[in-house]
Amino acid sequence: MGRLLIRDLRQVVSPAGRDAPLRGRALGDLDWIDDAYVLCGDERIVDVGAMADLDPIDGDVVELDGRGLCAIPGLVDCHTHPAFGGDRVEEFSLRAAGASYEELHDAGGGILSTVRATREAGPDGIARAVGRHRSWMLGAGTTTWEGKSGYGLDRDTELASLRAVADAGGIPTWLGAHAVPPEFESADTYLDFALEEVLPEAAQIAVAADVFVERGAFDATQARRYLEACGRAGLALRLHGDQFTEAGAIPLAIELGARSVDHLEATGPDGVAALAQSDVVGVCLPTAALVLGRPMPPARALVDAGAAVALATDFNPGSSFCESLPLVCALAATQLELSPAEALAAVTVNAAHVLGRADTVGRIAPGFRADLVLLDAPDWRHLAYHLGGDLVHTVVVAGEPVRLP
Ligand code: NIG
Ligand code: FE
Repeated sequence: MGRLLIRDLRQVVSPAGRDAPLRGRALGDLDWIDDAYVLCGDERIVDVGAMADLDPIDGDVVELDGRGLCAIPGLVDCHTHPAFGGDRVEEFSLRAAGASYEELHDAGGGILSTVRATREAGPDGIARAVGRHRSWMLGAGTTTWEGKSGYGLDRDTELASLRAVADAGGIPTWLGAHAVPPEFESADTYLDFALEEVLPEAAQIAVAADVFVERGAFDATQARRYLEACGRAGLALRLHGDQFTEAGAIPLAIELGARSVDHLEATGPDGVAALAQSDVVGVCLPTAALVLGRPMPPARALVDAGAAVALATDFNPGSSFCESLPLVCALAATQLELSPAEALAAVTVNAAHVLGRADTVGRIAPGFRADLVLLDAPDWRHLAYHLGGDLVHTVVVAGEPVRLP
């Protein structure tokens, strides 16, 4: 593809500057140009500016009419679980009528029921599912995404999940410590197996490793053992922590230099203060809190204390069957006390930082990959304002407008 000029855009809006992650007041700083253009070439952004300053362009260029549209960076989802078979609509219906997520989990439902369905789906079924989920994400404006394994928990299904994510263009994370599968007596014997039999090959495919630190899943000692082994194998480290209880995930994340600790619905003031003084990003997942009826994570307190905060969907069949980062932004603005500008940075620059990609994605600025979302709205802040609205008009990936599902 040659060059693409998107012209006459109502607004072009991007998190400001070049730093990542953005913290404190800088989280809400924007570069905002009215009546603007974006010129893309060789998969990158070449130039951004006001139409009044657009110089004549020599040579071939494809033009896209941006009238009535607002451009924001392609969205970055830094926490998803797209590699699963089946669904959990039965369990959803029981929960809707009052059963708790943890009760269903203890009764062999929850994560373990998806483990059974994912093993049954096999590599082809998993690849089909990831492809379908990926197209949903793209339709919602997500152009860079992380995808975790964690519903296989045996060697072949974990590796097939990681490959499916990589083949679909995602950034794979080995969530080898998501739950203890039924064929193992204890978390420790399962970890013996996972670290010996799965890690060597998982580390060839995955970029990061993740662990669910929680009562009924893995305790902090087990998480440390898993993460230290994964770190030695070259993987970046992530943790699911403080979803239901504070079980030591934040101190462990800080000590091990993890990229992020995600969930944080149960995080108290000490956890907020500790994260704020560290380089670990706090990833808030408001749709999971909403679906499970949990308290919302303390995003405002984290930002005010100076922590680096990102937002993500946690797309999965149990706690967040939702691929929409625009909806996450709406929840951030209505439930987490973040401004639309702060939410935008949390689903672009800061999410890209969690994935180690902040140099190339998450901003509309020369040199960045030409990933853009064109919103059909009079002002880009409708991204957060239009609750559940369908405002994604066009998605541009690496300088090319893609056909939306
Ligand atoms: O991030 N908390 C653990 N894992 C997922 C939910 C998985 C499921 O319910 O299937 C989460 O919310
Ligand atoms: Fe998750």
